[in-house]
Amino acid sequence: MEKKKLTRKEFMVNTSKYAIGAAVGVAGINAIMSAKELRAGSSNSNSANWPYPYAALDAEETRLLAYNLYWNGKDCSSGVFGALVQKLEIAVGDPWTGFPIEVLLFGRGGGVGWGSLCGALNGGAALISLAVDKDPSGALINELWGWYTTENLPTDAANAISYPDPHFVGEMPQNIAGSPLCHPSVSQWCLIAGKKVHDVERKERCARIAGDVAAKTVEILNEYYAGTFVPTFTDPASNATCMGCHGGEGDDNVMTHMECLTCHTPHTGIESLGGIVTGYALHNAYPNPFSQSTNIKFSIPETGIVRLEVYNLKGQLVKSLIDSETMKPGTYKADWNGTNNSGQRVSVGTYLVRMTTGNFMKTIKLNLL
Ligand code: HEC
Ligand code: HEC
Repeated sequence: MEKKKLTRKEFMVNTSKYAIGAAVGVAGINAIMSAKELRAGSSNSNSANWPYPYAALDAEETRLLAYNLYWNGKDCSSGVFGALVQKLEIAVGDPWTGFPIEVLLFGRGGGVGWGSLCGALNGGAALISLAVDKDPSGALINELWGWYTTENLPTDAANAISYPDPHFVGEMPQNIAGSPLCHPSVSQWCLIAGKKVHDVERKERCARIAGDVAAKTVEILNEYYAGTFVPTFTDPASNATCMGCHGGEGDDNVMTHMECLTCHTPHTGIESLGGIVTGYALHNAYPNPFSQSTNIKFSIPETGIVRLEVYNLKGQLVKSLIDSETMKPGTYKADWNGTNNSGQRVSVGTYLVRMTTGNFMKTIKLNLL
């Protein structure tokens, strides 16, 4: 593991920059203005050390430190951030020495009890942002947060440890939050464990998770600096359907990697089946004839505006299944439950389903019993 250390020359360059900054401070308003202009440009002297040098850490030692910091007034966010800072203070020294780990105190309880981003995740991400360049840091943080959403927490490893200064002894119940948010994670756990937010067990659980997140952050950073980091997290599969219409190639009005269905209920009967598509197709419906609901499969080989509509034999529009949506290439499955656009059941008989996109148009017949 390569230890990134400031050479004496780099150190001299940095100290002279600070010296110039200090001189500007006493040189009057005009000089301060130009210093401000400088900051607005590319050379921000305070960032000269960034990203901070990193040295491989021991994940298990960092875990224990985060657990202890949690119980010693630093809570989840500063606990995780502080554990790595204090370990790097020993492993690297400056510029980590004396870094005020309390900067992350706000992150506790998902942001002073707001239940937004899990504070432990906030702490780990802040440390990564300090030790890794902007471009690669996104992938590392994505991995950390994605891992958290899919992992049974506190991990078995966290439950197996006998902590030196324990606040609760024994295994803690586990849950997979399915979300990086503090609120669903904590509330779901309270439900499963039969505990309250203010019970010591809930705090112990979050202390162990702080340890888990600190250890995972170390693991990711160690791998990154050893050149062996390979991202594994991918967005929840069900998001593909939603993002086909709401993502960059569609309406482009949604930005999240979170599982949509933890907060929203589907408002279309459209499901993405993925796959590589070489031509347009509208397949026969299944089942057909049908009484309750039927599936209509179609494929598009390129991004295009799609309409999928049900007509009666008089040629009147009964139901818009897809109303001029921009959709990505793929195979999709649409459900029709025999209702019209007002949500009322239509009478039995024969109906036509028409798909229109680009130069492609096809109609199939349906029998509602
Ligand atoms: C076939 C295209 C399509 C798909 C698939 C789709 N949406 Fe939408 N969605 C729309 C359109 C069109 C609107 C209305 C205009 C808008 O707000 O973009 C909409 C609106 C919404 C709204 C705003 C509230 C509302 O109901 O008007 C939410 C929330 C939403 N969609 C969530 C989702 C989620 C979650 C999924 C996946 C389970 C999803 N959508 C899948 C096309 C789609
Ligand atoms: C943590 C909860 C949460 C998650 C996860 C989530 N949303 Fe939302 N979303 C909301 C809330 C809250 C609103 C605002 C209230 C509303 O319109 O329902 C919203 C609004 C929207 C809107 C309406 C914006 C508009 O143009 O009117 C769309 C569309 C939407 N979400 C789609 C999605 C999609 C797609 C996903 C998954 C990729 C997703 N959401 C994941 C909570 C969430």
